[in-house]
Amino acid sequence: MSQIKAGIINVTGYAGSETARLLYRHKQVKLAWVTGRSAAGKKLGEVFPHLADIDLNIDAEPGDADVVFSALPHKSSAEAVIPLLKRGCKIIDISADFRLKNADVYTEWYGEKHPAPELLQEAVYGLTELNRGAIKTARLVANPGCYPTGTILGLTPVLKEELIQPENIIVDAKSGVSGAGRTLTQKVHYAEENESISAYSLAGHRHLPEIVQELKAQNTRLSPSVTFVPHLTPMTRGILSTCYARLAEDKIKNGKASLGEITNLYHSFYHGEPFVRVVDNPPATKQVWGSNYCLIYVTIDVRTQTLIVISCIDNLVKGAAGQAVQNMNVMCGFAETEGINALPLYP
Ligand SMILES: NC(=O)c1ccc[n+]([C@@H]2O[C@H](COP(=O)([O-])OP(=O)(O)OC[C@H]3O[C@@H](n4cnc5c(N)ncnc54)[C@H](OP(=O)(O)O)[C@@H]3O)[C@@H](O)[C@H]2O)c1
Repeated sequence: MSQIKAGIINVTGYAGSETARLLYRHKQVKLAWVTGRSAAGKKLGEVFPHLADIDLNIDAEPGDADVVFSALPHKSSAEAVIPLLKRGCKIIDISADFRLKNADVYTEWYGEKHPAPELLQEAVYGLTELNRGAIKTARLVANPGCYPTGTILGLTPVLKEELIQPENIIVDAKSGVSGAGRTLTQKVHYAEENESISAYSLAGHRHLPEIVQELKAQNTRLSPSVTFVPHLTPMTRGILSTCYARLAEDKIKNGKASLGEITNLYHSFYHGEPFVRVVDNPPATKQVWGSNYCLIYVTIDVRTQTLIVISCIDNLVKGAAGQAVQNMNVMCGFAETEGINALPLYP
């Protein structure tokens, strides 16, 4: 079987190394090169012993490839992919650089002038289940943030059907520590984080404008307003997002009957999706570890007519590297599940 060539820019973070792990088992892709900054010149297996069977050195500069994944921090990512896009590579950017459509909003939240504002409209937001058609023909895909992935998949069915009041959506999300990346900081120090849970970014997390932009894109008649409170939890991987919204009046039956209607809606909306599972019990992050699944549980608090949606992903797989490979599969016409159909780890 002929293979395309892929490269990874910045393999030395969690998102980059996870992309290498997934591409290793992809039948139609040859991982041709990987780059890194401080680790350039070393063998990949020297830096990541679990990747030792991938016989590659870490290069300082990108080589030739049909598809390039960038797992750099924002701003440096856009700067790195622009020349590769000009050379004709298909790009999947795992950073935040091409997710926001408005360069001023990018500057407001990321504190940087966007290096390539002319590409923002062209870039396709790579939430595969919702934008598959545009991803197929894209040359630049903005891979979604980890928090937005679970939140947007969880809320889209009811927003499309206008079954919730969009002005007061609350998202309470908990992430494992790998979401903060591999760079050491005091807040991810074992002694600080172990057996402790804390909220952060209450003044506004960078994923908030992305969540609002993409929820609005799902139903342009509505202007969703979201209160988003992320939490850091003492686990390695995983994001559990609990979303609350008041049900729209007169649009849905009252009481318990509304639950059946909402559950049927979610089942039919995600019918046939290989990675989104609408589940019958509240999910746990352990049920998605190492997999590209997004589990969604939906219920209603009948006392207050409040919708509760819980979504659950592995932040490094469906929230980063797995979704990036899923997008590559769509861009290249491969089976969407190729390379990413592993079951979750247990226990
Ligand atoms: N972690 C997640 O769950 C997740 C999910 C979705 C998207 N993302 C995105 O993926 C990208 C990578 O995130 P990550 O969590 O994998 O990061 P990370 O683990 O913190 O890795 C960052 C790595 O990048 C290198 N680096 C830092 N600044 C650099 C620069 N200016 N130029 C070149 N290399 C640089 C550092 O290596 P050296 O200092 O050794 O060179 C470090 O190993 C980010 O844009 C992030 O927003 C992450």
